[in-house]
Formats: sequence, C-alpha cells, structure tokens
Amino acid sequence: MKIGIIGSGNMGRSLGILWAEQGHEVFFGTRDAEKGKAIAEVVGHSTTGGTNDEAAAFGDVLLYTVRGMNPAEVLSSTEVLSGKILIDCNNFDVPEGFAYPPIVQSLAEKLAAEVPKTRVVKAFNTMAQEVFELAPTPLKDYSVSVFVAGDDAQARQVVMSLAEDIGFAPVDCGGLRNARLIEGLGDFIRLMIIGQLQNPYATISVKTLPSEQQQRLGGRQASNLN
Ligand SMILES: NC(=O)c1ccc[n+]([C@@H]2O[C@H](COP(=O)([O-])OP(=O)(O)OC[C@H]3O[C@@H](n4cnc5c(N)ncnc54)[C@H](OP(=O)(O)O)[C@@H]3O)[C@@H](O)[C@H]2O)c1
Repeated sequence: MKIGIIGSGNMGRSLGILWAEQGHEVFFGTRDAEKGKAIAEVVGHSTTGGTNDEAAAFGDVLLYTVRGMNPAEVLSSTEVLSGKILIDCNNFDVPEGFAYPPIVQSLAEKLAAEVPKTRVVKAFNTMAQEVFELAPTPLKDYSVSVFVAGDDAQARQVVMSLAEDIGFAPVDCGGLRNARLIEGLGDFIRLMIIGQLQNPYATISVKTLPSEQQQRLGGRQASNLN
C-alpha cells in the first residue's frame, strides 16, 4: 500500500517507520522538504520524503498528524485528497486540570467537513508514541485496541488492516460520528498517561469475554428504571 505521511513528527515518523517495516511504500511529508528527505534517509526500507504536497500526491492512504489545521492551510491544493483515505490521529489539546468540554464535533468530523471528497477515518489516537516503540512485537501479545471510525466501510477495513499489520487489535467503531467517543477515549488515556498513572505505557483494550451459561446471579432482569 502507498502511504503518505502529512506531518512527520512523533506520530508520523513512528507509524511511517512501522508501516515501512511491514513492506508498505511510505513517503514522509513535512513543511521542509529537506527534513522529509532526511527522515527517509535515516529510516531506509525504501521510504522517500519531501513536502506535504508530495506526500498527499503519493499515498492512497494518508496519515494526517497536523493538529487543529485545515488541510487547505497545509497543502497547496486539497483536490489531491479526493477519494483517498485520510487517517486522523489527532487529539484535542489537554486543557488545564484535564477539564475537557463535551465533544460536540470531533476533530475527525471537522476534518471531513473541510475535505468532503476524502474518506476520513479516525484511528491511532488512544495510545502514546511510546507504545509504538513496542510494535509489532511484543505489542501483539497485549491486544491493544485501535478504535477505527469512518463513514466508508471499505476505508475502515483498510485502516484496520494497517493497524493489525503493526501488532494492534483493531476495533470497528462504525461511522465517523463515533469519533466523538474515540476522541473522548483519547482524552481519557491522556488523563491516565500524564495525570493519574504517569506512565506512557498505559493502554486500552476492549475484550469480549466468553458468555457465562450458568448465570448464578440470576442473569439480567428487566430494569425497573423509568
Ligand atoms: N505523540 C503522541 O503520543 C500522540 C498519541 C496519540 C495521538 N497524538 C496526536 O497526534 C497529533 C500529532 O502529534 P505528534 O506527537 O506527532 O506531534 P508533533 O511531534 O509535534 O508533530 C506534529 C506535526 O505537525 C506538523 N505541523 C505543526 N505545525 C504545522 C503547521 N503550521 N503547518 C504544517 N504542519 C505543521 C509538524 O510538521 P513538520 O514535520 O513540518 O515539522 C509535525 O510533523 C496530535 O494531534 C496529537 O494529539 C499524539
């Protein structure tokens, strides 16, 4: 798969390296073409690098790591994004005291509204960069969830497959509206990582347990709540 990285900072560089190691063709885009080329040179694995415009033209799948900026501000034209899969890994800034306002429009929905011909998929926002350092092994032993939401089912499948390639356990979360909940999880995990546990290796895994046939507690009763 051809993957263009738009913004090769911590997230862009890490995910780009991991995908390149798995045999994907990766282009590292940045504001400064020389920086992109230098990253590719260090990474190897046949990666290339240059500008964000070049990355957007290169990839069938694009990773968008530029928080809070409209693609029209980052690229010279957004037409190049038409039909492509745009992975949004962004989270909101952490507010003072983790006092987040309710999410009424997710960053991913805002992004999709800015580039309506693009297939925006929310993913990779609920773990810290340090976790990527463990990928694909030993990460795959821990079933760390990547929550994937987007309105295009085929695009979701592609992103889930990219998550699996690098040792994560993808979870299909349905339509892009659900990015509000996933971004809430991103806020929650940073409360753990930065605030409560102060450990970047804190992760979230959704696990479906085997059903209990015995129901020794009487099973679920009809609720009396109105
Ligand atoms: N780091 C994490 O552990 C982590 C985990 C989950 C989600 N996230 C989210 O992922 C996003 C990226 O985080 P990060 O840690 O990768 O940040 P980062 O290392 O600071 O990288 C940010 C990228 O944004 C680009 N950028 C910044 N200002 C720009 C501008 N004015 N125009 C164009 N490009 C600009 C930078 O471009 P250049 O390459 O040109 O310098 C850089 O590549 C954030 O929304 C963050 O919340 C981060």
